[in-house]
Amino acid sequence: MSISKLLCVAAAASCIFASQNVLAQEPIVIKFSHVVAPDTPKGKAADRFKELAEQRSGGKVKVEIYPNSQLYKDKEEMEALQLGAVQMLAPSLAKFGPLGAKEFEVFDLPFIFPSREVLHRVTKGPVGKKLFSKLESKGILGLAFWDNGFKIFSANRPMHVPNDMKGLKMRIQSSKVLDAQMRALKALPQVMAFSEVYQALQTGVVDGTENPPSNMYTQKMHEVQSDATLTRHGYLGYAVIVNKAFWDSLPADIRKTLEGAMADATDYANEIAKKENDDAVAAMEASGKTKFYTPTPAEMEEWTKALLPVHKDMESRIGKELIQDVYKEAQALGFKY
Ligand code: LMR
Repeated sequence: MSISKLLCVAAAASCIFASQNVLAQEPIVIKFSHVVAPDTPKGKAADRFKELAEQRSGGKVKVEIYPNSQLYKDKEEMEALQLGAVQMLAPSLAKFGPLGAKEFEVFDLPFIFPSREVLHRVTKGPVGKKLFSKLESKGILGLAFWDNGFKIFSANRPMHVPNDMKGLKMRIQSSKVLDAQMRALKALPQVMAFSEVYQALQTGVVDGTENPPSNMYTQKMHEVQSDATLTRHGYLGYAVIVNKAFWDSLPADIRKTLEGAMADATDYANEIAKKENDDAVAAMEASGKTKFYTPTPAEMEEWTKALLPVHKDMESRIGKELIQDVYKEAQALGFKY
């Protein structure tokens, strides 16, 4: 072989070696898509997970966060996860029905969680585990539950008692329990992607909706809703989920690092959620755009009376036993329904 040929071969070999080296160092990318603003309990927790995962893996993992439905809307993101187009999501618990995991709608039952403590006994205990086990056959793994908060109603007229909801077109998430809840109030539920709600409220396609205050505020819905009622009638929280094939393919040490990062991001999410929602109410009140109403104890009784029957109506969908399991956690802390 001539010297020049030898040099060529050597150059090609070093080029291959270099490119293999680059490949070996390429980080594992986790695309994490979500539909809310970065400045919300979920947005902040996702950012915290990114920071911890990247730092603790020494750069071997890169987490790309796509907030505000910029990559996918509600329904699309579930499909994208199953197809492996994204690796991680944190959909609200009200969005698992279309996936065939309708048991998650237990979280949507009005007034089922008398406190966050009860809620955490459910999410951190056997009920939470049982719910996550329902996802595996769908190619999905549940990693954690993240809090947001308790929902309030908003619309373009005052709603002091359940009767005031009659005839209102109300946007809901894709949950049959929420559909039943709105019907129990004689309102007209309309399923709609989160990214479309602001405009639908602004143009009058719907009259109102329900949200934890942090979502209402960060989507500026208070600018297009004249009234809100602090009923805190139902819970909205999240399940952080991953594509199972992707997760199983990770090296064991990386998976362990990510599990640790997720545990800490979860603690962080659950620590900040209540304050984020309290601050959002204060900020919206200060803006003077929406009038916030706190029902009297007698009015709250009316709301509970109108909405509690939804539990029984939804037994056949969610499972009586699962609802009873949640009741037991509440009763263990001295609450009655
Ligand atoms: C909604 O659609 O109202 C919420 O699920 C949005 C979210 O992710 O908090």
